Amino acid sequence: MALADLHTKIDLQNSSQLSYVSTRLSYNHRISLRPLPQPHNSRICCSVTSKEVQAPVTVNTEEPKKKPDCYGIFCLTYDLMAGEETKSWKKLINIAISGAAGMISNHLLFKLASGEVFGPDQPIALKLLGSERSFEALEGVAMELEDSLFPLLREVSIGIDAYEVFQDADWALLIGAKPRGPGMERADLLDINGQIFAEQGKALNAVASRNVKVIVVGNPCNTNALICLKNAPDIPAKNFHALTRLDENRAKCQLALKAGVFYDKVSNVTIWGNHSTTQVPDFLNAKINGIPVKEVIKDTKWLEEEFTEMVQKRGGVLIKKWGRSSAASTAVSVVDAIRSLVTPTPEGDWISSGVSS
Ligand code: LMR
Repeated sequence: MALADLHTKIDLQNSSQLSYVSTRLSYNHRISLRPLPQPHNSRICCSVTSKEVQAPVTVNTEEPKKKPDCYGIFCLTYDLMAGEETKSWKKLINIAISGAAGMISNHLLFKLASGEVFGPDQPIALKLLGSERSFEALEGVAMELEDSLFPLLREVSIGIDAYEVFQDADWALLIGAKPRGPGMERADLLDINGQIFAEQGKALNAVASRNVKVIVVGNPCNTNALICLKNAPDIPAKNFHALTRLDENRAKCQLALKAGVFYDKVSNVTIWGNHSTTQVPDFLNAKINGIPVKEVIKDTKWLEEEFTEMVQKRGGVLIKKWGRSSAASTAVSVVDAIRSLVTPTPEGDWISSGVSS
């Protein structure tokens, strides 16, 4: 059900005129009344018994900025600069997440809220986008976030309209999409998912921060990222990323396993091409302990055939094992991708991301 706006002005008797406007009649049909904001410079003078004539009360006819519903404890407002612990914090950032009631988000949201992604002095607002079908689950997610008492999580709002949820978003993590099932290729999802990303691109273009950073996770993520950016012409194309970090992480793990080292020793891994079975995980430029992989792993046949195929098909193999697509490792790779965008890359290393070129 779409959100509807309902404005009701009630004039109370006598000269003390109060105006009220109802807030949105929202998905869950809550109506509340709040006083209309009075313009600062309006001057109300006395009645005809005085020399002055009563000026008409100016009612602000501007549409109130649409906002998704805040949730529970997160509807309270705080002055972050008032507390000893919080006054050195950075300005709050808005993070919009689509598919917020899904499995990937269920891992991701709690990492974002804990501070491990944006840092211990970065308060955040989570704006969760779901669908009509998933709205109750979305409330469940918000309840769990409430119960987790994360100090840095200052706002949570939930909604089903991208134009509301993406309002002023500094980050948009676009996860919501139909996932593939066993035997499908990611490209098979394009018909269904392409439309979602066209709509979400338009919504971002209309209401998000002009410098919003967008990470597209829903498959086929490279194509969806392109569709999204083409529908958001007012946002710099360089701000759109398709998630290839999951493939980078998978490639690092396999190289480490073959070389018999821990995966933190593997660096400089690039993923060329789409997040699909046509991708090329680049072992030629990759390093183990700072040494080119080909000097450490002499088994070229393994590198060229098994390694490449293993990374290309890892997602599909996981679907067969789980009966559903990867979730936790995808969430971790989104975290890695964000961290790489907000913190300097270690000297001499690089990261993989699908960007427009
Ligand atoms: C993955 O690689 O695990 C995800 O893209 C899900 C999928 O469809 O493979």
